[in-house]
Amino acid sequence: MKKIGLITTGGDAPGMNAAIRAVVRIASSRNLHVLGFMRGWEGLINNVFNPLTPRSVSGIIQLGGTILHTTRCPEFETPAGIRKAAETLALNNVDGLIVIGGDGSFRGACDLSKETEALIIGIPATIDNDVFGTDETIGFDTAVNTAIEEIDKIRDTAISHERIFIVEVMGRERGFIALTVGLTVGAEIILVPEEKYKKEEVFKTLKENSAKGKKSGIIVAAEGVGDTRELARDIEKSTGVEARISVLGYAQRGGSPTGRSRLLANLFANEAVNLLVKEQGNRVVGLQNGQITSISLEKSCKSRKPLDFSLLTLADMLAT
Ligand code: F6P
Repeated sequence: MKKIGLITTGGDAPGMNAAIRAVVRIASSRNLHVLGFMRGWEGLINNVFNPLTPRSVSGIIQLGGTILHTTRCPEFETPAGIRKAAETLALNNVDGLIVIGGDGSFRGACDLSKETEALIIGIPATIDNDVFGTDETIGFDTAVNTAIEEIDKIRDTAISHERIFIVEVMGRERGFIALTVGLTVGAEIILVPEEKYKKEEVFKTLKENSAKGKKSGIIVAAEGVGDTRELARDIEKSTGVEARISVLGYAQRGGSPTGRSRLLANLFANEAVNLLVKEQGNRVVGLQNGQITSISLEKSCKSRKPLDFSLLTLADMLAT
């Protein structure tokens, strides 16, 4: 192993820069050269890269976003696009490729692994925390803390105006952010896409809360649960309490990574480079029960990470 390629793909996540820095510095200490391909898969398809050195990644550990930039790349979803990416790796004598991204990125990496001799390692980085094979992804903790800060503020105005707030958080079709955020802001109700909710039950809980003396409330809803505007209108009709919506949106993807996101970035990068030095490829690194581990890329792509439903029960108890 002499030369490795590095890309960030899919939605950006706070801590990607910390991971880039760690990969480059750890690789350099093992006498490996690193080529940073720009704009994710697009850079591989079009052979656009910058050589990365320990100095070129100075001063980025605290920055959100990714200095390598990232795109959603439809061309990489075609056999021709994947072939071009494989050709770029061969042209530049790249023996190993580290992909920093989420589950969609790893599905792409899996397809590419069938076309290239280069060994591929995935480093899970997505605010959604939906990668199978790791208890936590880089960026998740930062996104959760960003949402907590905002919702604590929303709680103030909810109490003053005696209103119900539905706060929509990101996560695509998964509820990991909503569940953790809901638990940690003391939400009255948490809605996740993995469990279809009944509006009547939401109304019932809110009415019971009102009878108990709760004059306001926070509902944390994952973006994948459906139309929250309609839900707010129906809550007003059914309970007579004013309901408002706050969509936290892309702010959750930005900002300086928390200590935890930076630590994961360092530990994952270390494991990724170690695997390549040992000539082991087509794996996704991760954190499982407090240990840094890795599983096969194929298994990570083909499996669905389970949501811990017992935490919803805990949240219900905490909201009484
Ligand atoms: O996967 C990360 C994520 O932020 C999801 O939570 C969200 O649904 C999606 O990306 C938004 O994608 P885009 O950046 O393409 O709008």
